[in-house]
Amino acid sequence: MDKIIIEGGKPLKGEVRISGSKNATLPVLAATLLTDETCILSNVPRLLDTNTMVKLLKSLGKDVDWDKDKLIIMSNGKANPVADYKLVSTMRGSICVLGPLLAKLGEAKVSLPGGCVIGVRPVDLHIKGVEALGAKVDIDAGYIIAKTKRLQGNRVYLGGASGPSVLGTANIMMAAALAEGETIIECAACEPEVEELANFLNEMGARIKGHGGPRIVIHGVKKLHGAEYKMSADRIEAGTFVLLAGMAKSDIIIRDFDYHQLTALDDILKKVGVQVLVERNSVRIKAPKVLRPVSVTTYPYPGFPTDIQAQYMAMMSLSNGVSVVRDTVFPDRFMHIAELNRMGARIRREGGSAIIEGVKGLCGAPVVASDLRASAALVMAGLVARGRTEIRRVYHLDRGYENIDKKLMALGASIKREKE
Ligand code: UD1
Repeated sequence: MDKIIIEGGKPLKGEVRISGSKNATLPVLAATLLTDETCILSNVPRLLDTNTMVKLLKSLGKDVDWDKDKLIIMSNGKANPVADYKLVSTMRGSICVLGPLLAKLGEAKVSLPGGCVIGVRPVDLHIKGVEALGAKVDIDAGYIIAKTKRLQGNRVYLGGASGPSVLGTANIMMAAALAEGETIIECAACEPEVEELANFLNEMGARIKGHGGPRIVIHGVKKLHGAEYKMSADRIEAGTFVLLAGMAKSDIIIRDFDYHQLTALDDILKKVGVQVLVERNSVRIKAPKVLRPVSVTTYPYPGFPTDIQAQYMAMMSLSNGVSVVRDTVFPDRFMHIAELNRMGARIRREGGSAIIEGVKGLCGAPVVASDLRASAALVMAGLVARGRTEIRRVYHLDRGYENIDKKLMALGASIKREKE
């Protein structure tokens, strides 16, 4: 296992290019199961999670080859409906093979992903959705076993206790693409990654409208064909660099992504005092001398993303007052508090909220990464802290940030990787 060692306090300067979106790539890869024809995806990020999805696709009857940032996905004629526990348990995103397997093969046996450090993470909405399309679903020995002759279009409400589900919407949209008749998803997730999946499905011959909004209408078709598609940039990676630049008071240009996908963050940053100069596909960050404390609540898109909550908390730990961060999407996503506090932050948890008293500076310390975005928050804290920070279990970081250490080194950070 690798650990990352950072000598903090180095000035950061220069340009960074944002990689392809992880959360868009995973469901798009799953969607290739809906056809026997070849699909070619470009701008695919080389991440642990993409590799896990590639392994899963291989186990389900695909040959998958990398060609630089391209993935070429072909059927090998041995379609298999069983998504094994070993692969699903390492990455929750694997659940989005349920809809495609069921729609294409008439059966799917997908391991229940289980919880993780950011919360319980139920899959009731996925199951409710495929049942509404006529599948018979059983849970047996830790697996979801779903069967159908042919899925039938229906009206499905996908709102849960914490709002819509991103991968739930993805799963039902993919299943409905090959169902008989019309499906209407109400309370669909509006995340850009859902929109991107629908665009890819439409390239494959699906008939989907309304994606990007809360009501998606899908006219089922008999067959989908192969397609070529370029993945868009990762808005969460971009948001992480925007926050880092503001927090490190550095002059960084962040390139090749769509800043409009971060409107909620932009709104908050204005109040914090961070200036974002937007040019076509890039932004330049001008950090203020003093970061003002601004409270934030996470919501489904277009609200403030839960996936940059930890990074925002790292920034607020250096504000000149008290702020509150509340996560309505994953109310238990606070494992990073204890580790940030080891670095001198003053944060306490009260229910689904974190109360952050800004401090003047952070100090390097040995810390442990607990999940993907928490790791990013610790890297950010390490980069601005006095002294040396050692972050263990960085495989979490490698799940979602392509070449993060190389990108940071190019900006002037002192960061290296060592085997534990
Ligand atoms: C996706 C993202 C993840 C992001 C999350 C919310 C991927 C691979 N992952 O995860 O990075 O943090 O969206 O933006 O794209 N819920 C239920 N029942 C369900 C499903 C979800 O109650 O069947 C709840 C969850 O516990 C959570 C909320 O709904 O409270 C949102 O979760 P969801 O949108 O499903 O997250 P994912 O799609 O798994």
